Amino acid sequence: MTTACKVCGNRVTEFLDLGRQPLSDAFLTPSDIEREFFYRLAVGHCESCTMVQLLEEVPRERMFHHDYPYYSSGSTTMRRHFEQTAQHFLETELTGPDPFAVEIGCNDGIMLKTISKAGVRHLGFEPSGGVAEVARSHGVNVRTDFFEEATAVEVRDEHGPADVIYAANTICHIPYLDSIFRGVDALLSDGGVFVFEDPYLGDIVRKTSFDQIYDEHFFFFTARSVRAAAERFGFELVDAQRLPVHGGEVRYTIARAGARQPSPAVDALLAEEADQRLTAPETLRSFAGAVATVRDDLVRLLRSLRAEGRRVVGYGATAKSATVTNFCGIDAELVSFVCDSTPAKQGRLTPGKHIPVKPPGAFSDPYPDYAVLFAWNHAEEIIAKEQGFREAGGRWILYVPTVRIV
Ligand code: SAM
Ligand code: TMP
Ligand code: ZN
Repeated sequence: MTTACKVCGNRVTEFLDLGRQPLSDAFLTPSDIEREFFYRLAVGHCESCTMVQLLEEVPRERMFHHDYPYYSSGSTTMRRHFEQTAQHFLETELTGPDPFAVEIGCNDGIMLKTISKAGVRHLGFEPSGGVAEVARSHGVNVRTDFFEEATAVEVRDEHGPADVIYAANTICHIPYLDSIFRGVDALLSDGGVFVFEDPYLGDIVRKTSFDQIYDEHFFFFTARSVRAAAERFGFELVDAQRLPVHGGEVRYTIARAGARQPSPAVDALLAEEADQRLTAPETLRSFAGAVATVRDDLVRLLRSLRAEGRRVVGYGATAKSATVTNFCGIDAELVSFVCDSTPAKQGRLTPGKHIPVKPPGAFSDPYPDYAVLFAWNHAEEIIAKEQGFREAGGRWILYVPTVRIV
């Protein structure tokens, strides 16, 4: 199947079909099951600008609404990451007279609360009302709205230009990238920067982390595709830093064309991508082959453990796990429940496969024989926290980059 590229309008060619999928963050009550929403999850790459993207778009209001259940502050590692990010901005971009910072997708205020505590003018855009209320309770100024050209123009008129516009794990969620760039153009000061960080296609391909592909993750960026997109709107990619969080991300820094000297890191990452032929059709086809192998290995392992009578549960009801469970056909017969620390997910059923979600206390009551670590990107934090599981003889099942028991 082909569609038109959301960035440049040229042809997007499919390289991976993950089938009919539910909304990845729609945790259900039993009465929701009969009206569950499904769409086709497939990914392709643009033959012209190389942008990797979904072929079908889910309407934004279906995903981001008052009951959106992802609370960014649920991980200690991520809290530390965003405190350091805020501190970095306070020491670099926000040192002028009366600086102004804007965040797109501020969620529960995990980053902006540090900016707010420092007494710096700021505004978070956050369309999901529940998480926005939590941000407000931490002293963060939030507009419960989608960032796009029209809303950005209103903020510029009311507050003046922003010195930094920042977004984490949000720009890749937004198919209307043209409206985002026009909004940034309207709101950003002449010398300001637009900084965003998202899962990196290079890491996804290298680790076969196909579970990064779900409704909310519309784009899978590379330095090459981000540079091309920025240039279309009069901007320039001036920095690209690899980040270890969420399984491997890149933080892109974008400035008005000619406003800043690009760092050598940009050319270095572009060269690495060219060497790897990262968006070449044969690389993407071979990634799709590796995805099928992970699926077959994981299903074979779970079936054999269950046939031996072992108890298997899941850990972390991540949005990513919706892709894994639905693509692999993993239901409550193979994984009896998933534990998760998020109150809004507990007592619900996972999207599509309807596996019960329980609080973390259920994990040790009693410990299972095996636990599939669906929140593998938080492995260090979770395995340290759950040391008692290994001590009781339990074993973790990981499937990134390959299926294995540790
Ligand atoms: N920045 C946080 C982090 O990194 O943990 C939150 C990431 S969360 C995966 C994505 C957030 O983007 C959600 O809270 C969602 O409501 C918000 N969002 C989606 N579209 C948006 C838009 N157009 N403008 C602002 N926020 C948006
Ligand atoms: P994420 O991978 O999209 O950040 O989602 C992580 C999910 O895992 C989220 O629902 C919270 C949950 N979680 C736990 O249950 N325990 C933990 O220790 C951590 C870090 C996350
Ligand atoms: Zn394109």
